Amino acid sequence: MNKPENFKPDNISGKDMDEEKLSTYPTEAFLSREYAEAEKRLLWPKVWNMVERESDLPNPGDWMTYNVADESIIVLRNGEGNLKAFHNVCPHRGRQLVDTPDGVHDVRGNARTNFVCGFHGWTYDLDGNNTYILDPQDWKGYLTPENTCLSEVKIDTWAGYIYINMDPDCVPLKEWMGRAGEILDHFELSKMRYKWRQWAVYPCNWKVAIEAFLEPYHVAGTHTQLLAYGDYYALSKQYGLHSVSSYDTREEKFQMSESAGTTRAGKGDDARVSTYELIRENYETVNFAASTETLVKAASRLVDEVPEGTPPADIIAHWMASAKADDAARGVVWPEVPPEVMAESGLAWGLFPNQNILHGVTFVLAYRVRPYGDDPNQCIFESYALERFPEGEEPETEWVEAERKPENWGSVLMQDFSNMEFVQKGMKSSGFRGPMPNPHQEQKVINLHRNLAEFMEGRSAPSLRDDA
Ligand code: FES
Ligand SMILES: [Fe+2]
Repeated sequence: MNKPENFKPDNISGKDMDEEKLSTYPTEAFLSREYAEAEKRLLWPKVWNMVERESDLPNPGDWMTYNVADESIIVLRNGEGNLKAFHNVCPHRGRQLVDTPDGVHDVRGNARTNFVCGFHGWTYDLDGNNTYILDPQDWKGYLTPENTCLSEVKIDTWAGYIYINMDPDCVPLKEWMGRAGEILDHFELSKMRYKWRQWAVYPCNWKVAIEAFLEPYHVAGTHTQLLAYGDYYALSKQYGLHSVSSYDTREEKFQMSESAGTTRAGKGDDARVSTYELIRENYETVNFAASTETLVKAASRLVDEVPEGTPPADIIAHWMASAKADDAARGVVWPEVPPEVMAESGLAWGLFPNQNILHGVTFVLAYRVRPYGDDPNQCIFESYALERFPEGEEPETEWVEAERKPENWGSVLMQDFSNMEFVQKGMKSSGFRGPMPNPHQEQKVINLHRNLAEFMEGRSAPSLRDDA
């Protein structure tokens, strides 16, 4: 095992993190094939896995596959309209019921009434019951409904997402989401719909990929052009399994409940101008996500609608009120998020193990990453934008496999991608002394490893550094 210098075997506590103690962790979680194999046994079948947006399976008979590591799950809506999930395997001799070839995002369809195994024709209804076996008499009474049905998987929904858990003894999803779920519930994500969704296979471990999006500490070094209009000083905080990042500020005049997230004041002498430039630049260069047309347009009017010298907090208040009115006029009603929840909600949530959700009152920019095959050096990377649309005006979207080109992803995500591959390579260096994450700004990264270790029998647990 590749232990960094100063390694101590104890997993750090939430309290250690709150106290911003200096920690490190081994690189084997990113690099080791054997660790990736262990994840197949200890991690993926034990966690709540986000499958898809509920709006993708609206009707009885709608179904899709969800694959993670070696597992494949069929998720469907049965005849009564209830969501159900089953392992995608025939109990006879183990053929996949639905073929999921390598390199396919998922397989899905509608109006399904049963699943017929392609090998010997055993058949299952949408509740997983076996409804047909050729020559059952040959088994001489051994066959029962219990040993011929599909293996069922726990399923639940949160915020318009379908989740599954393969562990029959898992905690309920609501408990799993905890305070993070409660906070995000205020943003009514369930009423948002896809604006776009893209995926690709990337040459790095799934953790390297998700970690590239967990913290704004990298903005100054990676997205230098964004510094023209805003500061990206950040803080981060663990919430048990999950964690949040926020924009921080050293300047009192910029302190307001909105300042932690994307709808915040720009820097400089005239915040009316810089607030607009900040949101416009972000929107246009992050593939038209992390904001909305309404917010950008309302920000563009600030210079006409607000007197020069207005304090940043009042500029933001005006901006929010006018964008809210513009949206209401077109039938997009904002949720009422109490200011203290808005402040606590921050910028983006790392949801254990493999998601990051940057949220706003009417939008989400999110990432989800899964391992690719048996290779710790590759992953399936997904990014998508949600938005709250007027009813009936939701765009039709589907998952698009998108090559790494600026026209597909926007210039900011291309800059993030440029790090991922070379972090994966860099960590293999014999000269790397082990990660030294920022204890104030990169807690989401540390917290991922702290929680991973809890599932991975303590392996690669972050530890306090001797030199701290
Ligand atoms: S493996 Fe499915 S019917 Fe034989
Ligand atoms: Fe980035």
